[in-house]
Amino acid sequence: MGILIKNGTVVSSKDSQKLDVLISGEIIARVGAGISDAGHEVVDATGLLVMPGGIDVHTHLDMPFGGTTSADDYTTGTQAAAVGGTTTLIDFALQNQRGTLKEALDIWLKKSDNKACVDFSLHMAVTNLHGEGGAETLQEMEEMTKFGISSFKLFMAYPNVLMIDDGLMFKVMQKATELNALCCIHAENGSAIDIVVAQMIAEGKTAPHYHALSRSVKAEAEATHRAIALADMAGCAVYIVHLSNEAALAELKFMQARGARALAETCTQYLVLSIEDQMPGKNWEEAKYVFTPPLREKWNQEPLWGALKDGSLSVVSTDHCPFRFKDQKELGRSDFRKIPNGGPGVENRLQILWYFGVNAGKITPEQFVALSCTNPARIFGMEKQKGSIAPGLDADVMLWDPNVDYTISAATQCMNTDYNMFESWKVKGNAAKVFSRGELVVDNVKQPGKFLGATGRGRFVKREANAGGLA
Ligand code: URP
Ligand code: ZN
Ligand code: ZN
Repeated sequence: MGILIKNGTVVSSKDSQKLDVLISGEIIARVGAGISDAGHEVVDATGLLVMPGGIDVHTHLDMPFGGTTSADDYTTGTQAAAVGGTTTLIDFALQNQRGTLKEALDIWLKKSDNKACVDFSLHMAVTNLHGEGGAETLQEMEEMTKFGISSFKLFMAYPNVLMIDDGLMFKVMQKATELNALCCIHAENGSAIDIVVAQMIAEGKTAPHYHALSRSVKAEAEATHRAIALADMAGCAVYIVHLSNEAALAELKFMQARGARALAETCTQYLVLSIEDQMPGKNWEEAKYVFTPPLREKWNQEPLWGALKDGSLSVVSTDHCPFRFKDQKELGRSDFRKIPNGGPGVENRLQILWYFGVNAGKITPEQFVALSCTNPARIFGMEKQKGSIAPGLDADVMLWDPNVDYTISAATQCMNTDYNMFESWKVKGNAAKVFSRGELVVDNVKQPGKFLGATGRGRFVKREANAGGLA
């Protein structure tokens, strides 16, 4: 006996068709028209879209950062994801600059152990190289890849904490080329930004707004170009994370046109929030929007949407890095440098992308699926397991109601923050039911906002090293 999803429209990254979906155990067994009900539990999806569960490839759960720790752990973070229709996360393990990659992996596996509620994987952030010429860490990259961690994160920002210099970055990229792995880059010129930051503080500019002004689009564009150029020299496939503005996008497109193997994501917040609307420099509340890269001028949003439509941007993620306003953002009340950088968003990614993307005619339903599920699965080496509705793949299936009204609010969210970046926004379109490996884990119609599965049921997903799915 399986679960038969009937009368819905199956949306893939390519087309939309009236098809039934049969789930057997944890796997999708069949997709076709008119599958017989006999012996199956039938789920009526009339009026609903049947899509693969979302994949958010950029989250920071239970992460020590900015003098505190991100507010969602693997339980609250994965539950919030599921409630919003996302069934797989790729989180970041961070190498301590004095430590090894293995130590970082052990720490993050422990954080997730018995806590993750949907499936997850890890990127490994390489923040330093140890051994003669970096040999020990480079060797560890090989072990990580064998373990199923096929993407390495490099920070060009946050000097003395996470940033590595160009030489080390180039070595990591060469090694990634050898391993067929993908390098994910936080592209901002951290050294230049730190000088601007110090100058602002010296001038008494300590309010949250100055965090945004200190990190210019030029600093992001320069690093975006440099990262891709170095990767191109090293022969490596590269993925720029949280690309926020038109200038950085122009560098990405320029390098793509020259044949560089470069991909990039943007995040929900850069598509709908702006420095004018959220951070005009009026009050402390603006600390809620202190994240990095910062919010940009509103006019940058249209080019980002255009790039999602034309394929130069491949993914929409969240960079979910939640901190409570009351007791965590407060750390930087008198100095924006001390405001922990990051915002909550994993629960609302699909609602925002659907409402402001599909409903507004900026992307199609098929592009919605591509950007939020199918491209992430392909780029990050798990397309044989996740990211599509197809026989043999994990039964991570989301029934999406395109007609339901939903009001976003911290009062009803699962994310463990005392605010929501989209507070009181009214959207149309939300996940109705969410299956994770064949199990109904969310039913937003009968029990809205509640995770129905067991805590700790989420599994680590081993990913193939496929150079971002690029030739
Ligand atoms: O502000 C942010 N984005 N915090 C998380 C760390 C990062 O840079 O992605
Ligand atoms: Zn970053
Ligand atoms: Zn991040």
